[in-house]
Amino acid sequence: MAGPVEIETASPNVKEKMEILTDNFDPPAVVVEPLLPVVTVANGGPRESEEEEEEGVEKPTKKSKEIELGRNVHSTCLAITEPETNDEFTGDKEAYMAAVLARYRRNLMERTKHHLGYPYNLDFDYGALAQLQHFSINNLGDPFIESNYGVHSRQFEVGVLDWFARLWEIEKNEFWGYITNCGTEGNLHGILVGREVFPDGILYASRESHYSIFKAARMYRMVCVKVHTLVSGEIDCSDFRVKLLDNKDKPAIINVNIGTTVKGAVDDLDLVIQTLEKCGFSHDKFYIHCDGALFGLMMPFIKRAPKVTFKKPIGSVSVSGHKFVGCPMPCGVQITRMEHINVLSSNVEYLASKDATIMGSRNGHAPIFLWYTLNKKGYKGFQKEVQKCLRNAHYLKDRLRGAGIGAMLNELSSTVVFERPQDVEFVRRWQLACERNIAHVVVMPNVTIEKLDVFLNELVEKRSIWYQEEHVQPPCIAADIGKENCACSLHK
Ligand SMILES: Cc1ncc(COP(=O)(O)O)c(C=O)c1O
Repeated sequence: MAGPVEIETASPNVKEKMEILTDNFDPPAVVVEPLLPVVTVANGGPRESEEEEEEGVEKPTKKSKEIELGRNVHSTCLAITEPETNDEFTGDKEAYMAAVLARYRRNLMERTKHHLGYPYNLDFDYGALAQLQHFSINNLGDPFIESNYGVHSRQFEVGVLDWFARLWEIEKNEFWGYITNCGTEGNLHGILVGREVFPDGILYASRESHYSIFKAARMYRMVCVKVHTLVSGEIDCSDFRVKLLDNKDKPAIINVNIGTTVKGAVDDLDLVIQTLEKCGFSHDKFYIHCDGALFGLMMPFIKRAPKVTFKKPIGSVSVSGHKFVGCPMPCGVQITRMEHINVLSSNVEYLASKDATIMGSRNGHAPIFLWYTLNKKGYKGFQKEVQKCLRNAHYLKDRLRGAGIGAMLNELSSTVVFERPQDVEFVRRWQLACERNIAHVVVMPNVTIEKLDVFLNELVEKRSIWYQEEHVQPPCIAADIGKENCACSLHK
C-alpha cells in the first residue's frame, strides 16, 4: 500500500497530505482509546425450537448466551456546542475540533489494525478521489434516466452496472439495476421485486440467511417459511422440498445465499432450481433472489465454484460494495431483469425521472469509488485477491486446529469459524463476530499472514489463562459446526 500522498484540494494553492495506512504502521505509537464498558442484556441468542438434537451433541440452552453491548453512554459523546462570539478571532474552537478529529483518526487507525470479524476489505487507496470530496454528488432516481439534478455520477454508476452485468451474464438491454446504499437494500429490493411479480407468493429462506431477509418479510408482510440448514450452513434441500410441497398452490420466492453471514456457506443454486422443478414449480411460478453480499464477488473467481448467472432462472442478484470490493463507504449493487422492473417504476415529476429504487437520495460518490477499483483491479486483480484470501483462510484454520481449537472452513469460503473466545475484551479487541458458541474471522485481502500470526499467538496465550483450571473447558461447538470440527473434551 502506498504511504503518504499529496492530494490537490478544490481550494487553490492548498495542498493537503493524505496519509494512507501502511503495512508497517506502528500501533504502539498511537494513543489507544479505551473500549467502552460492557453492558450485558439477558437475551439468550435463541436457537430455533424445530432444530433436532443430535446424539452426543451438546445443545446450547436458550439462555446460554447473553448479548454483550458496548454502551454508547452520553458521557463519551462528543457534544456540539454553540460557537462563542470571539471563536473566529481566537481560533480556539477550530483548534479544539482539529484535536478531536486527529484523535479520532488515530483511533480509527488502531481499530482498523485490529479488525478481523466482519467481511470488510480495509486495504485500499483512494487518494485520487479526494478531489471529489467537495461536491454533493447525488444519483436520486433511476440510474438510466437523467434527472433535473445535474451533480450526479450516473455515467460511473452505469459503467459499474455493466461490469456486474457481464460478470453475471445478462445482456445490456435485458437488465436493470442500481448502486444501493448496502447489501441489505439489495435484498430489500430483490425480495420486493419477487413480491411484486408474485403478490401471493411465499418467501422461502434458509434459517441461516442474513437478518435483512426476515426484515424484508416483516416489512412487506409476507408469509415466510424458514428452511433448515445442513451443518455447513447450506440450505437443506430435502427440507425445502417438504415445505414446497406443503404450499404447492402458491408461487415461491426464494432467497439463495451466495455465502451465509456466519459460516460463509454457499447454497446450491442448481439443487434449489432442481428441487423447485421436481416439485412441479414451472419457471413462471418462482422467483429467485441471490444474496451475494460478500461471496457474490468472490465466487466468480473460484474455478470449481458453481456459477451465479442470469442464464439460470434467477430474478436478481445483490452484492455489497464495501465488503470484498473495498469501498470506504457502505454501498452495494443490485441487478435484476428489465422485464420485472416496470411493475415497480413510477414517474416522479419533481425529478423529471422514474424511480424503481428503495431509497430517495443515493450516494453519488459510491459509484465512483466502485468504478475506480474495478478499473484498477479488473477481473484478474480480483481473482488474485480471492486466491490469497482462500490461502490465508486455510492457514488460519490449520493453525487453529494445530493449537487444539475447534474450527471449520467451508470449501468455497474465506470465513473461518471457531470456538468463541471466552473473554469479551478479547472479542472486542479483535472485533470478532460471535453467535452462540462460535466466532468467525473473515479473511479479506487486508488480512495478512503476519496479522493472523499476531492474532493466533494472542489467542493461544489467552486460552492458556482462561483454561488453566481443569473445571473450565473450551465450549462444545459440535451443534454449530459438527462433531468432526469440534475439539471439546468430548469430541477431540
Ligand atoms: C449474507 C449477507 N447478506 C446481506 C448482508 C447485509 O449487507 P450490508 O451490511 O451491506 O447491508 C450481509 C452482511 O454481512 C450478509 O452477510
